[in-house]
Amino acid sequence: MVLLDGKGLSQKIKERIKREVVELKESRGIIPGLAVIIVGDDRASHTYVKMKERACEEVGIYSIVHKMPSSISQHEIEETITLMNRNPNIDGILVQLPLPDHIDATRILELIDPAKDVDGFHPYNFGRLVQGLDTFAPCTPLGVMELLKEYRIDPKGLNACVVGASNIVGKPMAALLLNAFATVDICHIYTKDLQSHTERADLLVVGVGKPHLIREEMVKEGAIVIDIGINKLDDGRLVGDVDFERVSRKASYITPVPGGVGPMTIAMLLSNTMKAARQRKV
Ligand code: GUN
Repeated sequence: MVLLDGKGLSQKIKERIKREVVELKESRGIIPGLAVIIVGDDRASHTYVKMKERACEEVGIYSIVHKMPSSISQHEIEETITLMNRNPNIDGILVQLPLPDHIDATRILELIDPAKDVDGFHPYNFGRLVQGLDTFAPCTPLGVMELLKEYRIDPKGLNACVVGASNIVGKPMAALLLNAFATVDICHIYTKDLQSHTERADLLVVGVGKPHLIREEMVKEGAIVIDIGINKLDDGRLVGDVDFERVSRKASYITPVPGGVGPMTIAMLLSNTMKAARQRKV
């Protein structure tokens, strides 16, 4: 069994981006800029945003975080996005999800200029992704593809099973794997007999948010297992959606949690921001 080391790879990618930031500044005088909008006081969201801010700082990307109270109106968030859309120093705009219930998240995400949509959540970019066109792909599934590439795992012809069908993770993950010529099963909360799907998978990707959802008997011998879940147990331990201890004995490759997909998500945010900056039209 080989551990897929997302922490190590993300470090390598950050070193590369750091050099690219310097080159872009020298060649075109551009400093990549990322604007983050966070609404409310969800602890986990604030932790993620802090990590994103710190990562930007590490590689020399300028970042600004707009912290808004949960009482903020739809209109005020939209005004901030409009300003960021027009701001020539901002290449990427990210609205941390989830948003409070009274906010229409779809309208917010659709307001972001698709050229600045470094999270890849705008339907325009998602449509391009599904069509296999150049786009901003969502950071977590993109990070999974980078991790596979690093370990020379080619999805072509593999039976892939994606468990979880969210717009952020499962659906774009399935699209990326399909574009890479895998045969893709997408499972979700209404899937009957989940095991009948997972046990056939050469490549199993799980992003649901349920500790120990994937047990040993659900995994094929020699499968590649990618665990996107991050769950905090009552005792404070962080675990994924896969029973790592048992499944890792059966898998050929597996991601640890933490240290697998998580750090790759942030590396891909930096990479997408760099890509947007390179495409800046000034
Ligand atoms: N909430 C959970 N994951 C993400 C993510 O990747 N991006 C944003 N913007 N919000 C999230």
